[in-house]
Amino acid sequence: MSELREPYWHDEHAALYHGDAREVLAEMDEGSVDCIVTSPPYWGLRHYCEGQYGQEPTPEAYVEPGRRSAAT
Ligand SMILES: C[S@@+](CC[C@H](N)C(=O)[O-])C[C@H]1O[C@@H](n2cnc3c(N)ncnc32)[C@H](O)[C@@H]1O
Repeated sequence: MSELREPYWHDEHAALYHGDAREVLAEMDEGSVDCIVTSPPYWGLRHYCEGQYGQEPTPEAYVEPGRRSAAT
């Protein structure tokens, strides 16, 4: 597991990380997240950037990363 990057912003209550959510979440220790606030792209609807979430070939492939993140 790679080391958690420096937060983009933080104060005594919260830290904001900038990056691909799949990579940032993978850097976080298991069980270290209390709450996830997310607004992911709809599947197959909008193109924001190359390699973005939401452009998976199937709905199942779209749901899987979110399910895995929530499960850890
Ligand atoms: C539905 S929009 C979010 C809209 C935002 N909540 C608002 O109120 O303006 C989805 C966003 O997810 C970003 N995004 C797509 N794939 C991502 C990823 N793998 N990691 C982090 N952000 C991603 C897109 O660039 C886009 O800005």
